Amino acid sequence: MLRRDLPTTLEIGEMLRLGSQPLDTPSELSPLEQEAAPRPPTVLVVDDDRAVRDVLSAVLRDEGYPVRQASSADAALELLRGDGSVPLVLCDMKMPEHDGLWLLDQIIQRHPQAAVVMLTGYGDTESAVECLKRGAADYLLKPPRVTELIRAIERAWSRSRLTAARSRYHQGLARKVREKTAELTAALQGVASAYSSTLDALVHALDAREHETSDHSQRVQRYTCAIAMKMGLSGETLDHIGRGALLHDIGKIGIPDSILLKPGPLTQAEWVEMRRHPDVGFQILQGIEFLAPAADIVLSHQERWDGGGYPRALEGEAIPLGARIFMIADTLDAMTSDRPYRKAATFEQAVQEITRCARTQFDPRCVEAFGALTAEELEALRQRR
Ligand SMILES: [Fe+2]
Repeated sequence: MLRRDLPTTLEIGEMLRLGSQPLDTPSELSPLEQEAAPRPPTVLVVDDDRAVRDVLSAVLRDEGYPVRQASSADAALELLRGDGSVPLVLCDMKMPEHDGLWLLDQIIQRHPQAAVVMLTGYGDTESAVECLKRGAADYLLKPPRVTELIRAIERAWSRSRLTAARSRYHQGLARKVREKTAELTAALQGVASAYSSTLDALVHALDAREHETSDHSQRVQRYTCAIAMKMGLSGETLDHIGRGALLHDIGKIGIPDSILLKPGPLTQAEWVEMRRHPDVGFQILQGIEFLAPAADIVLSHQERWDGGGYPRALEGEAIPLGARIFMIADTLDAMTSDRPYRKAATFEQAVQEITRCARTQFDPRCVEAFGALTAEELEALRQRR
């Protein structure tokens, strides 16, 4: 932007002494170039010396910059107040009352993207360095050469445009991230809600066949998750185990009413049919992607640690961990619930019985984790809805 016909060797100081004005020469830019070039911003010239302000302003105006003047730091802040544009300021360091450093701090605080060029005296390198540290775009020794002044203002302007462009880019990026996060959150909520509706539908479907199942399933899910957490399980693993526990008897949907709801003892043939329910449950769930890991627990929930269970007579750690934990929770709930033919046992009695059956019916490691739950914790899990 610096024009070649400017008195580049002439110092502002000389111009001040001679009272001369910068040459009023025509612009070298063609009308097309002028149209394409961005409009120069207004430069705020702050100096307590009117003669200096006028000469600096004249030089800048001659370069095409609109100029405003302030004779003090406070007057400068007043002019910048309510100005929506990014300030470009040429500021004297030494001024009565508030000095240039104070003004620099105030401007940067209020307009972080502002470009401030400081005018410092000879031998005041420390102040110059301090200005840069505090966010000044540049500094010039006073009185500056015209070329230095114009170049410093051009650099400051281009720095301010770059900062503004960066800021716009970051704001745009932040907005995009916010939009995408909102979309993703909504999608995940939709998926979570679909999961939850699917689980509810399955539990209610079974409940419609065999009343009281829903409460039992939910209590067993809570006990199972509590034991699993005592074993250090968390996250998705815990979710899968919880769903497996909740849906453990879902296969009973496929058992005829005459067997499922029979008041008396089952015949041998009826037991064979009844023992199909882990397989039926597995078949129902394995086709639903988010329930596939739970399907393994459903298939194995009637196994025993000693291999005496069904349907595959699995033994020890061959039984999925979630199913091994579930067996304890299921027994606990069965023992501590009232039945038509007996009263519910206390938690203490249930813990004793389960501990006795470690290594036969139950995985001893799971029993140990279960033993870490207090009677109060178990009672709270039973009551929670
Ligand atoms: Fe079962």
